[in-house]
Amino acid sequence: MIEQPEHIRAIPGYKPGKSTVDGWDGPIHKLSSNENPYPPLPSVIDAMSESIGHMHRYPNMAAPQLTQMLADRYGVAPGNIAFGGGSVEVAAQLIRAFAGAGDEVMYAWRSFEAYPILTRSAGATAVQVPLTPDLHHDLPAMLAAITERTRVIFICTPNNPTGTVVGHDELHAFIAQVPQRILVVVDEAYVHFQDDPGAARGIDLFREFENVAVLHTFSKAYGLAGLRLGYAVVRDDVMDGLRKVAMPFAVTDIAQAAGVASLNAEAELQARVDTLVAERARVTTALLEAGWPVTPSQANFVWLQLDDRTDTVQAQLASRGIIARPFSGDGIRISIGDPSANDAMLSALGNYTAK
Ligand SMILES: Cc1ncc(COP(=O)(O)O)c(C=O)c1O
Repeated sequence: MIEQPEHIRAIPGYKPGKSTVDGWDGPIHKLSSNENPYPPLPSVIDAMSESIGHMHRYPNMAAPQLTQMLADRYGVAPGNIAFGGGSVEVAAQLIRAFAGAGDEVMYAWRSFEAYPILTRSAGATAVQVPLTPDLHHDLPAMLAAITERTRVIFICTPNNPTGTVVGHDELHAFIAQVPQRILVVVDEAYVHFQDDPGAARGIDLFREFENVAVLHTFSKAYGLAGLRLGYAVVRDDVMDGLRKVAMPFAVTDIAQAAGVASLNAEAELQARVDTLVAERARVTTALLEAGWPVTPSQANFVWLQLDDRTDTVQAQLASRGIIARPFSGDGIRISIGDPSANDAMLSALGNYTAK
């Protein structure tokens, strides 16, 4: 038996979204992982196919074309774009590079399930600051929780799993009060689904503050979750740390080609995002009308705060082939799928009945 060191033993295992349901042989609707329900565009598949022919070579770690396109888009230097195999891998790099044993990594809770895992596997201490009763980041409480050991703060906006956003002005005022030695990571995995004009704009904050990094992904709006492509926009000093801890060759040439093709097909992809945002509004209205405690969301999922009813409602959904993401005792996150999946989900839920 090979013993795990104490800091690894303490890590709760990551639970990926399920994709099967025992005892149900009807259609399955996987609404558990905030994936885009639409498959890659033909132009993106073509670009990936073309790059397959040189898979005997390692990828170009500099990802030059993709880097340049993103740098142009954000008006930053190419040296400010750091890639990883999914933005979760870039988040891991940020933690590994800037926090170690004895250091604290802070984030709101509940938030993205990977934060505690990444923090603890780096040997750092997780500081989880509860969301407000209306499920928003409690920035005053986060400020109050800063200590001399705080090294990294994650702000997940829109927040996974609640779908709530942090206001731009509010986040600006927060960062202005955070000591500059602390890295503030604005995790915008779901930013493309955001239509609240007052919501935080991470890139603007990156331009203004030297201690801000922004995380983006091709997994959600761009529909490339299976390919693993994410990036951070970071300052030179942060990049220097990331380079030291990055997994070499984590971003394949196929992923780079798909990223470039996706940026070239943005109008088509935006139409899909618009559809999902419209579906989010339709689903939210239907759930509210049926009496469900649904939180208004700015992401591609909705959150039902069900507390001790979570397991019962989860079983009800599963019995109709709907795979959602339950957090026992807390609530259920349901991804927005295509209209037929959403209809199936609404029909499985029916009307909310109080206990
Ligand atoms: C808030 C947040 N950040 C980052 C990620 C990681 O996405 P990926 O690694 O697919 O880019 C996710 C995925 O669910 C997420 O919810």
